[in-house]
Order: sequence, then C-alpha cells, then structure tokens
Amino acid sequence: MQGKRVVVLTGAGISAESGIRTFRDNGGLWEEHRIEDVATPQAWLADPSLVWHFYQRRRRQLQDVEPNPAHVALCELQNGLESMVLITQNVDNLHERGGSSDVIHMHGRLETLRCEATGRHEKRMNSTDFSDDFLLCTCCSTPSRVRPDIVWFGEIPMHMEEIYRAVDACEVFVVVGSSGHVYPAADLVDVARRHGAWTVLVNAEPPLNLDSFDEVHLGKAGELLPGLVRQWLGSEG
Ligand code: OAD
Repeated sequence: MQGKRVVVLTGAGISAESGIRTFRDNGGLWEEHRIEDVATPQAWLADPSLVWHFYQRRRRQLQDVEPNPAHVALCELQNGLESMVLITQNVDNLHERGGSSDVIHMHGRLETLRCEATGRHEKRMNSTDFSDDFLLCTCCSTPSRVRPDIVWFGEIPMHMEEIYRAVDACEVFVVVGSSGHVYPAADLVDVARRHGAWTVLVNAEPPLNLDSFDEVHLGKAGELLPGLVRQWLGSEG
C-alpha cells in the first residue's frame, strides 16, 4: 500500500472487541431496542426521553471501554502511509483514543451534542453532561435543548462531499467490520471500484456486499488487522 492513496471505512465490528455491541447481531434488536424506536427523527419527536436516555447510556459507556488492537493497527497504518483517509460509521471515540487523527465520522459522534435551534455541535463530555435530564446548549441567548449529534435513519450522513472526493481518488479501499446494510456507506466500495481501486475486506462474517471485494479476510479485526497492517506497510513478508 506504500505510495498509494488509501481509504479505510470502518463499522461497528471494529469496536465489537472493545465491548460495544454491533447493530445487527442480536436478532434485529440494538441494546434491547428496535433501531427505529431510538434512531430516527420520528422517535425523537414521539418520545424524546426514551431516545435521550438511550444515547446518554451510550455516551456514558465511552468511559468504560478502551480501543482494541484493531483501532491501534489502523493508527499505525495511517502513520506509516503517505496518504490515508479514515472514515467511520461509528459514533464512538475509539479511533481517536487509539491514536488516529482527522477521523471522518459520517454518522455523527457521541462526544458532541447538537443545538436543536442552531444546529451547532459542541463537545460535551464533562461529568455534568451525562445526566438523564435534557441538556441545554451554550450558544443561544435563551438556551435550547440539545439532541444527540447522531445521523439517524432518514437523515443525510455528514461530510459526504469530502468522503466522495477521497473515495473517487483512492487506489486502495479497505472496509473493516461493516455488514453492508446501510447506505450510502455500503455503496462506497462500489464507487471506489468503479474508479479502479483495489478493494479489501476485514470482517467477522461475509457482509451483504461481499462480491464487491477483491481481497477478503474473514475473522476478528483485533486479531487480523495488526498482522495485515505490518504486511501492508511492508514491514513483514
Ligand atoms: P453492523 O452491526 O450492521 O455490522 C457489524 C459487522 O461487523 C457484521 O458484519 C459483523 O460480522 C462484523 N463483526 C462483528 N464483530 C467483529 C469483529 N470482532 N471483527 C470484525 N468484524 C466484526 O454495523 P455497521 O455495518 O457498522 O448507523 O452498521 C452500519 C450502521 O447501521 C451504523 O453506523 C449505525 C447502524 O444503524 C447509525 O447509527 C446512523
């Protein structure tokens, strides 16, 4: 991969070994909720307390989990290559805590909250920010309620222009830990392929879009990625 323009897209599978549950491995339920009951704008309108409590639990969970060898391996890859863009569908902060910088969070972030009135994002990770009571913004003269800074189903993912620019131009496109169910993320591998990129998958199980990959490594990311990254950096084999 040395000298190539590389893009890596990660999904929930990369954080599974850190103890954060994936979305689609539990019979359609995510932490005992149907996804549509907690991850849609309609859910926020219908029952904001349920949605708020759900995401506050996810935000508090960040304090109890640690990056795993897969996050650290991707940081080493980024440091060892001239050009690597890291895109994640994950809303946790484990890539950053594994050492990666400039991570593009296409589905939002748990660390930040968004003012409902202005749309402004703000990092809110002080001990007073984990309450089950609604929180208020710090940007409006009459403070407004904040919402989770998450892209819910039916909303448009963030940073898509920057993402398409990187994917269109890449020569190697790597996906780690994603089931290929959610668009437009699931389609990025085909965009890369159409532009001539070599496509690589590291995933526990075959995803829906398996046929889009030129090179497939089935297994746990935390076990496979450290060795693959050494190979990709040319420091082994
Ligand atoms: P999924 O839960 O759909 O898929 C996780 C994938 O990771 C599955 O294919 C698993 O086989 C694989 N996996 C599990 N453990 C693994 C491990 N240790 N190593 C490698 N792979 C492993 O998660 P995503 O594809 O990320 O959206 O889901 C996409 C989006 O759907 C999420 O970003 C989220 C959700 O709704 C939002 O929150 C907006």
